[in-house]
Amino acid sequence: MQNKIVSVIGLGYIGLPTAALLCQKGYKILGVDLNEAVVKTINQGKIHIVEPDLEDFVRSAVLAGKLKAYTSHQPADIYMICVPTPFHEGIGIPQPNIDYVLDATRSITSFLKAGDLVILESTSPIGTSRQILSVIEDSGVDISNIHVAYCPERVLPGKIMAELAENDRVVGGLTLEATKKAADFYKTFVSGDVLETSASTAEMCKLTENSFRDVNIAFANELSLICEKEGINVWDLIKLANHHPRVNILQPGAGVGGHCIAVDPWFIVARDPENARLIRTAREINNYKTEWVIDKIKIAVADISVKTQRKPKIACLGLAFKPDIDDLRESPACLIVEALQNQNYDVFAVEPNIKTHETLKLVELKSALEFADLLVVLVKHKQFFELNVHSTKAKILDFCGLQSLLIRK
Ligand SMILES: NC(=O)c1ccc[n+]([C@@H]2O[C@H](COP(=O)([O-])OP(=O)(O)OC[C@H]3O[C@@H](n4cnc5c(N)ncnc54)[C@H](O)[C@@H]3O)[C@@H](O)[C@H]2O)c1
Repeated sequence: MQNKIVSVIGLGYIGLPTAALLCQKGYKILGVDLNEAVVKTINQGKIHIVEPDLEDFVRSAVLAGKLKAYTSHQPADIYMICVPTPFHEGIGIPQPNIDYVLDATRSITSFLKAGDLVILESTSPIGTSRQILSVIEDSGVDISNIHVAYCPERVLPGKIMAELAENDRVVGGLTLEATKKAADFYKTFVSGDVLETSASTAEMCKLTENSFRDVNIAFANELSLICEKEGINVWDLIKLANHHPRVNILQPGAGVGGHCIAVDPWFIVARDPENARLIRTAREINNYKTEWVIDKIKIAVADISVKTQRKPKIACLGLAFKPDIDDLRESPACLIVEALQNQNYDVFAVEPNIKTHETLKLVELKSALEFADLLVVLVKHKQFFELNVHSTKAKILDFCGLQSLLIRK
């Protein structure tokens, strides 16, 4: 298998680690990305994203002549499509945008030959693999011996290199032969189980995994709203309830962010709004939780300004979409700070994982503790565990359970 040439299309968080791992397993990789700066950086053996161990993999692959990146598409035997799949913003249910996937497919049709394998790794709505084949057919290629399969990615940022190699993988082809060919390929570089299914089941499987997380976080967020009204500490409640041997409630927070869990459930809702009622409601609850947090902050600010007769200073702890990462994509914490800043509140952010921000005012934790009238805990970063609640005069609003943790220290 290692004598096959593999073209990895889209060299971002998923494509670049995949290309680098394949090189380590003996493949020759032609990486393709439309972004010239990305291609230039990779060909220097460097990386343009933050991910532990990735730079070592890329450097040795480039030095060994196994990885070369291009801005134009290249002929290969196996094509792996790892391009973005966002949604179209607009009124109503967000609709998936698979334009990048279809564009990438159009770009390779002129190279396709009998026996080639086209694998889609991008998170995609049901039916996208079938649409890839239609695009290939429409271009005039004989599709009788072109194999299309879907294989979703389920890595955790920060552990991508280990999880790419070790996680179980779901592989679904449009035909049994395509499934078998794709599974045989993955077995050459994945140590986890490679599970074979149909393309549509594999497509739905990825969306299901992320919707499961979203629905379960929505349950925790809904509990947090009810508990606040009742004067019950939701984190204590969840801890107690989780002592039931068959209960495992997740943690509430300021909403749900990231480019996966906050996006992918919409792909199911957009396709079947009539039946995807729980999934849609979960999305709405998690989005509403962010609005609710903003309202709570405004109420607290109004209260402080009545007492002090001046404009209170707000310090928000955390901007990332989850603890201990630097990724701000779709982050509820960012939305909250931006909304307050846009409404002329005197708001600052403490985010230990980034150094600068284009529009938001960043401060160190120490000075925030000194000057803030209101401290708002939005993300449970490990640096905040050291926070001494007695070292600040500020009122604290805690939306992620940090205080329950500190009180017990
Ligand atoms: N990042 C993750 O942790 C993660 C996890 C699971 C699944 N996914 C899914 O994987 C897919 C890719 O995500 P990502 O985070 O790697 O995106 P990314 O934005 O980091 O990288 C995508 C790259 O594709 C390039 N590109 C766009 N169109 C192209 C084309 N036609 N030809 C060549 N290159 C093109 C872009 O320039 C970009 O560099 C998405 O569907 C995402 O939902 C991501």
